Amino acid sequence: MRPDLPIRTERLLLRPYRDTDIDDLHAWQSRADVTRYVPFAPRDRRAVAAQIRRKLTATQLAADGDTLELAVTLPDGAYVGEVLLFYRSAEHRGFELGYIVHPDHTGNGYGTEAARAVLRLAFESFDAHRVYARLDARNDPSARLLERLGMRREAHLVSDEFVKGEWTDTLVYAMLENEWAAGATAPPVNERSRPSDRE
Ligand SMILES: CC(C)(COP(=O)(O)OP(=O)(O)OC[C@H]1O[C@@H](n2cnc3c(N)ncnc32)[C@H](O)[C@@H]1OP(=O)(O)O)[C@@H](O)C(=O)NCCC(=O)NCCS
Repeated sequence: MRPDLPIRTERLLLRPYRDTDIDDLHAWQSRADVTRYVPFAPRDRRAVAAQIRRKLTATQLAADGDTLELAVTLPDGAYVGEVLLFYRSAEHRGFELGYIVHPDHTGNGYGTEAARAVLRLAFESFDAHRVYARLDARNDPSARLLERLGMRREAHLVSDEFVKGEWTDTLVYAMLENEWAAGATAPPVNERSRPSDRE
């Protein structure tokens, strides 16, 4: 599975990583606030350089464990963050979604827009049956993003992982292929509305 890159959305470009992205990647991977709920500690420049080398070739999915890792930019080239699609199971046609937005660019819907493009890729190009996301239960901005995408909260795992020195709860959100198809044909929803607004 090799996507046609770059992927263009209304306001963003999703493209393969380049060597020259190291400063932008380091700008968020070195921050404790941004990495608080991701499964690694802040990285120094040397560790980020190793990450970039790996990301350069993370542009297609062939087997379980492969990852698609795309830099997200504005049309003028400004780096906003990244989106990830993990190929979890060929047998079950299962994928996992990931996303990061640099704090300079949060609050604009860019994460939702980029993640939606990746969901579309998974369901419409990669024949996904199920796409899920896992997050620390305290990561409210991430939960809101997934709810804007129309993903279902399907599990709250209690004290299941020991992360950064403490036991943490994990939320699991998911979407199935039939749910994507139903959403794709539904009238557009207001991006800004929250679940509570719709109740
Ligand atoms: C999780 C994360 C991507 C969320 O970022 P975010 O900016 O809140 O999410 P989006 O980019 O989708 O923007 C949505 C916000 O912008 C607002 N917004 C403004 N214009 C918007 C638009 N056109 N469309 C959608 N939302 C818009 C929304 O109201 C929303 O704010 P709210 O949640 O306070 O209501 C970000 O906090 C992050 O990268 N965190 C660190 C890494 C991390 O934890 N990643 C997830 C691991 S599971």
